[in-house]
Amino acid sequence: MLEIQNLNKHYGRKPALCVFSFTFKNGIYGLLGPNGAGKSTLMNIISGNLYGDRDSRLLWNGNDISLLGKAYRSNIGFMPQQQSVYENFTARRFLMYIAALKGIKTKEALNDTEKLLKTVELSDVADKKIGSFSGGMKQRILIAQALLGNPQLVLLDEPTAGLDPKQRVIIRNVVRELSESKIIIISTHIVSDIENIADCIIIMKQGQIIASGSVGELCQSVQGEEKTLENLYMMHFGSDISNS
Ligand SMILES: Nc1ncnc2c1ncn2[C@@H]1O[C@H](COP(=O)(O)OP(=O)(O)OP(=O)(O)O)[C@@H](O)[C@H]1O
Ligand SMILES: [Mg+2]
Repeated sequence: MLEIQNLNKHYGRKPALCVFSFTFKNGIYGLLGPNGAGKSTLMNIISGNLYGDRDSRLLWNGNDISLLGKAYRSNIGFMPQQQSVYENFTARRFLMYIAALKGIKTKEALNDTEKLLKTVELSDVADKKIGSFSGGMKQRILIAQALLGNPQLVLLDEPTAGLDPKQRVIIRNVVRELSESKIIIISTHIVSDIENIADCIIIMKQGQIIASGSVGELCQSVQGEEKTLENLYMMHFGSDISNS
């Protein structure tokens, strides 16, 4: 369980997260919100790559993550929004390399690598250089690296950005199959990526949660239109041209 209590984050004087509080239990969480809402900032703080302001508290199974250090970080698999790949590495070598960085033992790394290549449907190109991959294939190898070591907390920041519908479906299926006994947080701008797989949707605006709940619960508030997540999103952001 991950508890976030009063998380504030400023970049200089500019607020990016404002008293963000939420408790994540096992399941799939979809983070929705326009550009600048604070999704990546939140993921970077959860992953330990950034710190919140002084009064913020993050608890992992009841313990402060700043005291847990490596014992917390070893539970995390993170796919950042802008992550570069090693173009000259083959897919297999890249996963083995990241596994080594994560401190995963060779035998487990070999097992995980083969299993994950299969999961993300890249086994047949495992020995091809990543530089020759399409955007969707690169995204999938980046998802695979996040899953090395079977982390309990998986953070995927816009894993489907720029992908065609078929690639998005592959990624959606990978996420769907992960969900047991894990916390999976996935940010996206594409409502259809998460509306059928997320147990809970969190809608963010200007660093705050403006709505959260299951798709069914959230869509109840849509008035005068079909009760879909897309209409809910438009209800909150449709008129906000600066954020479209
Ligand atoms: N390194 C930084 N320095 C200064 N301001 C930043 C930095 N990173 C983010 N911000 C600001 O913090 C706010 C939240 O940004 P963040 O990247 O977390 O949003 P986001 O929801 O991930 O947006 P997007 O959908 O575009 O990825 C924005 O106003 C952004 O300009
Ligand atoms: Mg972002």
